[in-house]
Amino acid sequence: MLKVGLIGCGFMGSMHANCYNNIEGVQVTAVADLRPEKAEELAKISNAAIYTTGKELIEKADVDVIDICLPTYLHAEHALLAMDKVKYVFVEKPVTLTLEEGKALIAKSKETGAQVQVGQVIRFWDEYVELKKIVESGKYGKIINANFRRISPIPTWGWEDWLLDLSKSGGAGQDLHIHDVDYVLSLFGEPKNYYSVKTPNNGYVNTVMNYDGFVVGVEGTWDLPASHPFQATFRVVFEKAVVENAEGKFLCYTDAGAEEIKIDKVEVKGDGYKGGNVSDLGGYYNELVYFCDKAAKGEAIEKATVCDAVASLKFVLEELNFKG
Ligand SMILES: NC(=O)c1ccc[n+]([C@@H]2O[C@H](COP(=O)([O-])OP(=O)(O)OC[C@H]3O[C@@H](n4cnc5c(N)ncnc54)[C@H](O)[C@@H]3O)[C@@H](O)[C@H]2O)c1
Repeated sequence: MLKVGLIGCGFMGSMHANCYNNIEGVQVTAVADLRPEKAEELAKISNAAIYTTGKELIEKADVDVIDICLPTYLHAEHALLAMDKVKYVFVEKPVTLTLEEGKALIAKSKETGAQVQVGQVIRFWDEYVELKKIVESGKYGKIINANFRRISPIPTWGWEDWLLDLSKSGGAGQDLHIHDVDYVLSLFGEPKNYYSVKTPNNGYVNTVMNYDGFVVGVEGTWDLPASHPFQATFRVVFEKAVVENAEGKFLCYTDAGAEEIKIDKVEVKGDGYKGGNVSDLGGYYNELVYFCDKAAKGEAIEKATVCDAVASLKFVLEELNFKG
């Protein structure tokens, strides 16, 4: 049995607890949250021990792996301590608030040999995994252009409104738009050059990346009213087809017509998950299955590594400082 220590029992911690609850051979045996009611709610799922702070859990709990679902500005200090305690650490995205903190995590993982996975979950999201396969197959010819878009109502669900504080979350650029940037970098690598614009509060970012022979637009915002639905979409225009994921449909358009792209989705229960930006456990489940499998086998984490995540953070921080 792989024993998980889960730090932070808010929105993302609840999602992770539900995922672990559906993974065979895995049990959340310790949870920590400053808000007792939040910790108790998740502890009930698997009869976990309860700690008040993340540091207390790291110090005292008997666990094999530690999963950090804390507000972003608290990631670095907890991840550094966790790497001294266990060999497998999961840190939610964005990996850290600053690049210096990100580099400190890389250094610590080298020093301790700890394997660190970061919650850059789009790399594990079914439609995006399928798109990567399609791109790599070359079956529709060269790419001409692509667009990735992620738009959300203003996130008011965070503990003490930490998401709305730029000095704690980095705003929509660092917290939301990083998902697509990380995916695009994993798919195409660094662009030759790019142009980026944003609003002063980092609530809206729009970047056009120039690759050899094609361009990619990446847009993200959370400056929308609560009534607006969350949307994560993409459209990739190839020489012979257009692959689009929008409005709940994953389609391939050719001159012959539009055809649904079928994917084998893992059915998971996900009881107890409420609200937020997704309607199922999707990529969250997939990324934690990968993490737990690597930890159980004692193998290296090769996807969504701390180095990948720090590279994506670096790119986003440069976009947010783009002067044109
Ligand atoms: N991968 C994704 O799609 C995705 C989606 C949402 C959030 N996130 C990330 O997950 C992380 C957590 O975000 P969230 O939305 O769950 O925030 P949240 O505010 O809902 O939850 C954070 C929890 O941490 C607790 N906490 C604060 N300080 C603590 C401490 N020292 N010890 C123990 N508990 C403490 C709070 O009480 C709160 O319950 C962030 O980095 C966020 O960017 C990722």
